[in-house]
Amino acid sequence: MGMKKGLSIIMISVLTISLIGYGSSEAENGGDSTVENENTPVQTDVTEEINTEPVQDPELTESEQSAAQSGSSSLVVYFSWSGNTENVANAIAEQTGADVFEIVPKEAYIDDYNALLDIATEEKENGARPAIAGNIEDITQYDIIYVGYPNWWSDMPMILYTFFDSYDLSGKTIAPFCTSGGSGLSGTVSSIRELEPEADVLDGLHIGSSAASDPNQAVSDWLESLGFVE
Ligand SMILES: Cc1cc2nc3c(=O)[nH]c(=O)nc-3n(C[C@H](O)[C@H](O)[C@H](O)COP(=O)(O)O)c2cc1C
Repeated sequence: MGMKKGLSIIMISVLTISLIGYGSSEAENGGDSTVENENTPVQTDVTEEINTEPVQDPELTESEQSAAQSGSSSLVVYFSWSGNTENVANAIAEQTGADVFEIVPKEAYIDDYNALLDIATEEKENGARPAIAGNIEDITQYDIIYVGYPNWWSDMPMILYTFFDSYDLSGKTIAPFCTSGGSGLSGTVSSIRELEPEADVLDGLHIGSSAASDPNQAVSDWLESLGFVE
């Protein structure tokens, strides 16, 4: 057998085998979707997908029902270093039935408060964009996005700028919320309006850090004022 012929036979075999392989995996994928097959190729993309799972409460709250009726869907996105903003985020999610995505830094922040103050100063001075671990699977499905953060040096933590750089929120409604020692929202709502000129950025909610452990009343007053719950 000549060299050329040998090679082309090998190439045809390889092609055929890979076509058969492709065909059978297609059949597996296209078949009964309830059948789990360990051999079915799964996405091996290294980017983490965070599932934003809806609250598993069988009893729909009023706001969930109205959201379902109007076809609108909401997401709470938040960053929290010491848990205050997280408490508020959870209260909003409970009261609205929104999905939740926590902004987790790829490189965790230091546990020491004083050291963090310096790091945050440096990040702000450098216009840093700290990387976010994971991503929001399909942001297009959400109409209302609650965005929460602690006040860091009268501004949002720089990782919030990473978030706004990463997602196109044009046409969406953004409802900001913030916890802080005493500065309130500072200029953060106007910053978000500048970052997302095509979004409807609503008046923000501020809760002081000491009130953040019991945020339910403030949250429901705010949601009511926005017309999101009755
Ligand atoms: C780096 C850093 C900077 C801060 N800067 C301010 C500030 O400028 N004004 C203020 O009122 N509180 C400031 N705080 C306090 C936080 O805003 C407050 O404790 C907040 O509730 C923390 O939220 P968290 O528990 O969700 O991280 C700062 C805290 C940190 C860690």
